[in-house]
Order: sequence, then structure tokens, then C-alpha cells
Amino acid sequence: MQDDHFSHAAPFSITRVRLRQYRSIAAADVELGDLVFLVGPNGAGKSNFLDALRLVAESLGTSLADALDVRGGVAEVRRRSTGHPSRFAVALEFRGPGFEGEYGFQVAGARSGGFRVAREECAVRPAGAAAASGFRVDDGLLTSATERGLPAPDPRRLLLAEAARLKVFRPVYEGLTGVGVLNLDPGAMRRPAAPDPGRSLRRDGANVAGVLHRMGRTARGREDRARIDSYLREMVPGVQGAARRVQGGRETVEFAQDVPGAKNPWRFAAQSVSDGTLRALGVLVGLFAAPGEAYSTVAIEEPETALHPTASGPLLAALRDASARRQVIATSHSADLLDSEDIDPAELRAVRCTEGHTVIGGLDESGTYTLRAQLALPGQLLRTDQLVPRPAAPEPRSDVR
Ligand SMILES: Nc1ncnc2c1ncn2[C@@H]1O[C@H](COP(=O)(O)OP(=O)(O)OP(=O)(O)O)[C@@H](O)[C@H]1O
Ligand SMILES: [Mg+2]
Repeated sequence: MQDDHFSHAAPFSITRVRLRQYRSIAAADVELGDLVFLVGPNGAGKSNFLDALRLVAESLGTSLADALDVRGGVAEVRRRSTGHPSRFAVALEFRGPGFEGEYGFQVAGARSGGFRVAREECAVRPAGAAAASGFRVDDGLLTSATERGLPAPDPRRLLLAEAARLKVFRPVYEGLTGVGVLNLDPGAMRRPAAPDPGRSLRRDGANVAGVLHRMGRTARGREDRARIDSYLREMVPGVQGAARRVQGGRETVEFAQDVPGAKNPWRFAAQSVSDGTLRALGVLVGLFAAPGEAYSTVAIEEPETALHPTASGPLLAALRDASARRQVIATSHSADLLDSEDIDPAELRAVRCTEGHTVIGGLDESGTYTLRAQLALPGQLLRTDQLVPRPAAPEPRSDVR
């Protein structure tokens, strides 16, 4: 019953994100709540923002070198601008069950195309306490540490991955590596997959069958599955539920679907099911499947994709429902999804890019006033392109500190 215990624990959530020279983002300082909608035109920098969170999770989970490699190297990740910044930096504030703290690093690109960790900092303290445990690394040297037993830093690796062996840093590592950024792909979700032991949905949803199946093993998981089926029924007419199907040692999902004249629902393999149905299932599994440890942030790219406008109501309800147990971030272009009095203006983060320079922030005064005074719904402002971020502080000079 360990699962049940963990599922009730407070989640790990990211309360503030500061970025420097990360892709199109010269500088951002964004506070995040339990439910956040990122809105803005195509190419504005929404996915870039989420990519920074994913980079942290991946570089701790695998290695910084791998995480940069799959992105094409530091040169692709650091902001391209006339100032030619050679470094980028990510700093996060977080909160978890009984603790809070900060973690961040700065990566410098080398002329040869390589990179090194120029700075890394971690601080974690019991919630509300002043004294923290932590460390700081500058150019490969451990310049401060409250704990003994930290290994010597390697300029190409993040020390937190090693420091996670120490009990104080473990929950920070678990929380950050547990951050998921989903960009569901119905093609990947349809493909029969080798059994996957993961409890969390992969980015493209390819292991959805395995995750669903494992949920059936605990009482809490079965409850969550019932919740998924119930939202799925509301979102996709005629669909009753989803389950794993195993064939030739590979697993895929199948859907129970009403068929006219048939007394019981028929079963349809993922290959025969619509894109919207698969995506709806992916979003719901991403939101509700409990990971092994404490819940961490889940970010979902455009959860409304391929869904009929009438599915927006239950989709919003599912996002909000899930945000009661874990932090949920969604990028969205859906005015239908945002046409709701339920959305607090404080839950919106507007993203804009002008001249290759992304600004991310809470709504400007006029947008906030319009919504607070209930003169319009957020969806209406999205349609007329009036969800605009507050003006940011002036862009810092070319490089990070
Ligand atoms: N290293 C970089 N330096 C500067 N700009 C970059 C860098 N990498 C990506 N970009 C810019 O970021 C843009 C993509 O931004 P992003 O994918 O975040 O947009 P988005 O807001 O998610 O848009 P959509 O709604 O279409 O998904 C690219 O078009 C490119 O101009
Ligand atoms: Mg995007």
C-alpha cells in the first residue's frame, strides 16, 4: 500500500522559474501556481519555456551531455542573438512535502562546441525554516557545502545527480527528475510497444498501455483509472473506457466503445481508434497516473489538440481536478478551453516574442482588469489576441552574470 501513502503526500511543485539566454528567452522570471495556462502566438516561446524544465529533468535523470546532445548541443539551446551569449542559466524555486528550496545551474559553451557547468547551486530547507542544506559549484570547484560526503564536481556533470545519494538532496532530485513535459503523439500511442516498467507517461504517450495496466494493481490506482474512464466518457462520445491489450509480447491500448445495436460495448484496438480519442486518453493518464514517488509537475503541450470544442469543458475540469494533487501546466491555443469563468486571471501566463525576444509573464493591467471585472472571458481575449504579458524589466546586457 506504499502507492496509496505516496499518492496522498504533498506534491513537488515548481514555484518560480528564472531563465537567462535560454533559446528565445533572454530573461524570464515566472512564478507558477498549481494550475498554469501558457498562452501566446505560434513561435512565441511557450515550448521553449517548458523545454527548460525538461532540460533540468533530463540532465539530472540521464546526463547534461545527453540532454544537450538531443537538443543539438549548447549552440542550439543558448539564445541566438547579436550579443552572442555563450552561456545559459536555469534557476528554479520549488516546494515539496515538508521542504522548499532552490536549484539552478549555468552552462557555458566552448568554442570547440563542448560545454562546462560554470555554476550550480542547490539549497533545500524544511518548509518555513531559515537554515538550508546546500552546495555551490563554481567552474568545477565546490565553493560551498553544508554537507560532508559530496564527491568532487565534474565540470561536465551536474553535482545534484551525485548529491542525490545524500538524504537531504534526494527529494529535490526525485522531484526535479519527476517533472514531465508531454507532447502526445497518437502515432506513437498506437504502436504496439515492448512492455515498459515506467509508472509515468513518456513524453509522446508511447507507454500508455503499460501505465494504465500498472494502475490496476493498487486500490488508489483503480480509483484513478475509474476517474480517467469517467472523463474519457465525457470527452469522447460513445467511448466507455480504455485498457491494455497484449499481443505477441507487445502491449497497446484498446477502447470499449458503444456500437449501435450491440448490447455490450465493442473493443477497438488503438490502431482503429481516432486521434482525438488517443490524445484524450494520453492527457488523462498524464494527469492522473500516480508516479512511484511523490507527484511532481506535469506540463502538457496543447492538451486540446484534435478534440472537439464540446470536450473543452470536461478537459478543463480534468486539468483542474488533477491540479488539486499535483502542479499542472498547459500550453493552449484553445479559446474554447479558456472560455470559462472558472479560470482565474492569475492562472494565465502570456508569452510574446518580439524581434526574437520572448517575454513571459502574468497578464498586463488591461487584461487583468477586463477579466477581474468580468467584462470578458479569457477565451474571448485569446481570440482577439489581448492576452499580453506585463512589460518585463529591460533586457540584461548580452550575457548571463
Ligand atoms: N537558441 C535559440 N535562440 C533564439 N531563438 C530560438 C532558439 N531556439 C529556438 N528559438 C526560437 O523559438 C521559436 C520556437 O518557440 P516555441 O517552440 O517555444 O514556440 P511556441 O510558443 O511553443 O509556439 P507554438 O504555439 O507554435 O507551439 C523558434 O521559432 C525560434 O525562433
Ligand atoms: Mg509550442
